Amino acid sequence: MTASLPTVATPTTAMLSVRLLEASISGSRILRGVSFDVPPRSVFCLMGRNGVGKTSTLRTIVGLLRAQRGSVQLDGDNILSLSPEQRAHRGIGYVPQGREIFPFLTVEENLRLGPVARGTKLNGQLERIFTLFPILKEFLPRKGGMLSGGQQQQLAIGRALLTEPKLLILDEPTEGIQPNIIDQIGEAIQMLRREGRMSILLVEQYLDFCKELADNFAILDRGAVVAHGPVVALTDEVVREHLTV
Ligand SMILES: Nc1ncnc2c1ncn2[C@@H]1O[C@H](COP(=O)(O)OP(=O)(O)OP(=O)(O)O)[C@@H](O)[C@H]1O
Ligand SMILES: [Mg+2]
Repeated sequence: MTASLPTVATPTTAMLSVRLLEASISGSRILRGVSFDVPPRSVFCLMGRNGVGKTSTLRTIVGLLRAQRGSVQLDGDNILSLSPEQRAHRGIGYVPQGREIFPFLTVEENLRLGPVARGTKLNGQLERIFTLFPILKEFLPRKGGMLSGGQQQQLAIGRALLTEPKLLILDEPTEGIQPNIIDQIGEAIQMLRREGRMSILLVEQYLDFCKELADNFAILDRGAVVAHGPVVALTDEVVREHLTV
């Protein structure tokens, strides 16, 4: 697939629709017109080499970085004027790069903070999280900071899931994590996809993980989408051109 993108907003019911998004950090333009759609009930993988603007794209979607131009629609509603908290209430669950769990709170306390962010109650959802990540049940009284990096990632994903998001956003969930936990996170994503209750937007540099899990992909380069399509279009040639360092 090439970089050509629809220039008019398509009247599809994308769960997330990002159009011509522009943003700057300290005066330098980081996003230069990013556009892509995440269809409902699907997994979307946003890829690209280091420093091309993947995290900045996510931060703009969740409201932590101000968009200068463009639009972001969640389930048909423009959300760019909303605060990060309001966007969370609308159904965006976000697991930032590096996880950011609370190290001095227990696993249970960390999990209970998820629904607080969305303004919802726990509603017996914990058991569902334990099905995905059994280790969290075992470690409920343990301080978050005592968990391994991979377990902290599971905790961060579990906490985001407890907000019952329409759109779960994960920034490099496999970064620096041991292979068996990468497999568990992959299985959890697959299970969530099968359940069909949310869309998942994943930033990921681990190519096989994307190919295995994603329905669609987009590749960013210097703040713009340079390739996109269904994951079958993520060919070796595309990888060589846009992802190989
Ligand atoms: N706080 C900041 N101050 C200055 N420049 C920044 C800041 N955060 C990001 N940048 C710059 O913005 C650009 C995009 O960064 P971003 O973190 O979005 O990239 P990324 O694709 O997520 O990279 P990585 O693969 O390393 O996570 C980079 O050139 C980076 O140096
Ligand atoms: Mg990043």
